[in-house]
Amino acid sequence: MSSYEVELPDLAAMESFAGRIAERLRAGDALALSGSLGTGKTTLARFILRFLGQSGEIPSPTFTIVELYEALRIPAVHADFYRLETPDELEEIGLDDYRQGAVLLAEWPERAGGFTHESGCLSVTLDFTEEGRVASVEGNSDWLERLP
Ligand SMILES: Nc1ncnc2c1ncn2[C@@H]1O[C@H](COP(=O)(O)OP(=O)(O)OP(=O)(O)O)[C@@H](O)[C@H]1O
Ligand SMILES: [Mg+2]
Repeated sequence: MSSYEVELPDLAAMESFAGRIAERLRAGDALALSGSLGTGKTTLARFILRFLGQSGEIPSPTFTIVELYEALRIPAVHADFYRLETPDELEEIGLDDYRQGAVLLAEWPERAGGFTHESGCLSVTLDFTEEGRVASVEGNSDWLERLP
């Protein structure tokens, strides 16, 4: 496991960081997007979905919890677990079924019990800086050879 920081002073930096993640994603991965309210989790997920081929609208999954993108280069599940009461609700939602053959882009992953026990988990924690944002990046074993 290795951890490092990436400076993201503006949206252009966010977009190029998203591109580096998107070109490395594989089906089955979980991208755990942490960070307090407004740090840019949805922004990063949207840029990644664009790179994966989503040309239409990308609604925030704040209220639906899960949004599916099946017609992409790699299918994707964009989730926001902020409103989850307990991780048990994941079964009702059927998250594991949606994740088959897809990448998971998860906002508020800790509310879903976290994904860091999965070998394909890439954790990105966003934080505010004076200019923009900074990301702490930590990849599990499947990511060692392809960290963004
Ligand atoms: N690197 C950046 N530099 C400057 N502003 C940014 C950056 N990334 C995102 N923003 C801005 O931050 C705002 C909040 O972003 P966003 O909605 O993606 O946050 P979030 O982490 O998903 O919030 P929530 O916790 O409510 O889901 C947006 O206005 C977005 O344009
Ligand atoms: Mg969000």
